[in-house]
Amino acid sequence: MAVSRLVVLVSGSGTNLQALLDAIDADPGGPEGFGARVVAVGADRDGIAGLERAEKAGIPTFVCPVKAYPTREDWDRALTEATAAHEPDLIVSAGFMKIVGKEFIGRYEGRIVNTHPALLPAFPGAHGVRDALAYGAKVTGCTVHFVDAGVDTGPVIAQGVVEIRDEDDEAALHERIKEVERRLLVDVVGRLARHGYRIEGRKVTIQ
Ligand code: GRF
Repeated sequence: MAVSRLVVLVSGSGTNLQALLDAIDADPGGPEGFGARVVAVGADRDGIAGLERAEKAGIPTFVCPVKAYPTREDWDRALTEATAAHEPDLIVSAGFMKIVGKEFIGRYEGRIVNTHPALLPAFPGAHGVRDALAYGAKVTGCTVHFVDAGVDTGPVIAQGVVEIRDEDDEAALHERIKEVERRLLVDVVGRLARHGYRIEGRKVTIQ
């Protein structure tokens, strides 16, 4: 079985990236057993822990800051090219805080997996944890989904539920969500890579 090539995109602490790296390492069969290997890590900013984690693991990195390009379209093209250079089978957006553009989606639609810290379609966007708390929701969680042209609107692959406690603030709740999120992302990426999948409309089936 071919080992899927993963490019992981990050903007911050990169604990989801680390969970993937650890799971691949811990698999008795290594990348062949897990079904995937991380071939590169991309970011939209320098100086983040996510990039350090990649460097420590000996994985090539690239950085495409939006501000470094004259237009958003130029940035999107640069991100697409930098990603394409690593010939990914799957792209994992793991805490990547930018909306990718038409070129990126056009090239990779159906192969970009994102993780979002809320139960979509509730609380999309950059503040999913804060918005669920402010709404007074009693449960929230995380959603692993394919990326389409909208903001957190693509077909859902898997979700995990987390209870909201009376004493929660955004940081405490996000930490509990991330514990569930990391396990879910590792499980989903491994299964997509090992078994293959079909996307029919909004329905995702892992084969
Ligand atoms: C995750 O909760 C992700 O869903 C959100 O940002 C967090 C990233 O965490 N968009 P990390 O960088 O993987 O630690």
